[in-house]
Amino acid sequence: MSTAVAHPNIALVKYWGKRDDSLILPLTGSLSLTLDVFPTTTTVVVDPHAEADQIVFDAAPATGSAAARITAFLDLVRTLAGTNARARVDTRNSVPTGAGLASSASGFAALAVAAADAYGLTLDQRALSRLARRGSGSACRSIIPGAAIWHAGLDDATSFAEHVDGPDLGMVIAVVDAGAKAVSSREAMRRTRDTSPYADAWVHAAEADLALMQQAFAAGDIGMIGEVTESNALRMHAAIMGCRPPIRYLAPQSVALFDAAARLRAQGLQAYATADAGPNVVFVCPAGEVDAVREALTADMPGERLIAARAGAGAHLVEV
Ligand code: DP6
Repeated sequence: MSTAVAHPNIALVKYWGKRDDSLILPLTGSLSLTLDVFPTTTTVVVDPHAEADQIVFDAAPATGSAAARITAFLDLVRTLAGTNARARVDTRNSVPTGAGLASSASGFAALAVAAADAYGLTLDQRALSRLARRGSGSACRSIIPGAAIWHAGLDDATSFAEHVDGPDLGMVIAVVDAGAKAVSSREAMRRTRDTSPYADAWVHAAEADLALMQQAFAAGDIGMIGEVTESNALRMHAAIMGCRPPIRYLAPQSVALFDAAARLRAQGLQAYATADAGPNVVFVCPAGEVDAVREALTADMPGERLIAARAGAGAHLVEV
């Protein structure tokens, strides 16, 4: 029996678009912060006598496409391990119910670490990152503690995440909508590539943003990190809004929160907004300013549900 814990990560330079849908090779590199909130805990037990994988998700049996995606991932692990033995998988998310923050990144990072161990594989961090990537692209970054850069790479062997040194950052998550999104990020990424007239511009912009972000990390320049973060998120959403049929993830409240970030900066705080494929907004700031940013946001936008987070551990095995 092997149990692993992993946390979600939030990208400062986003991954949006694949050049290989099956290997999950991204069009561009990305850079993120693995958080210390909302851990996913996953236990894998190999059962040589079972006829099928048994997958339990937050105490309920998983079915349909969610179960199929996990079985397909276990098939990759079984191929590496040279066995056909089925497994029992038990996954628990600590995300407050309905917060809309359940993360495939923490899920597949925890599953990669637990399944590799349960099937007797000894994989280093890079190999685990590559494996997690096959479940969900962004999961390759949740293998890594704190800040992580995912190198786009040229093939399966060269597309992995690793730690990147930089200033201590924190985040404040504003929960705008608890509901499930109308279009999955997997489908929306494909639609952006196939139908958005801004898809190529996004790829060029993301490459330039990643280079700038690496410079900003090396220099410890929070202002530049924040500016590139906010602009990169808006550029991604601009590309998404060019899809046909159209997709728009940002809600009026999300836009209001981007405006709040500007007001916080006017007060002297270093807070910058970003948003993934959904309406929730995440503020990035120096780790030492997380509480001040949370308080200032509470005063600026009363009633907003805010969660403070700092840099967290990479996916790892735990004793239970
Ligand atoms: C907007 O990693 O969930 O959060 O590889 O298809 O599973 P798949 O996509 P996923 O996409 C994450 C997109 C994002 C940006 C990011 O995390 O970089």
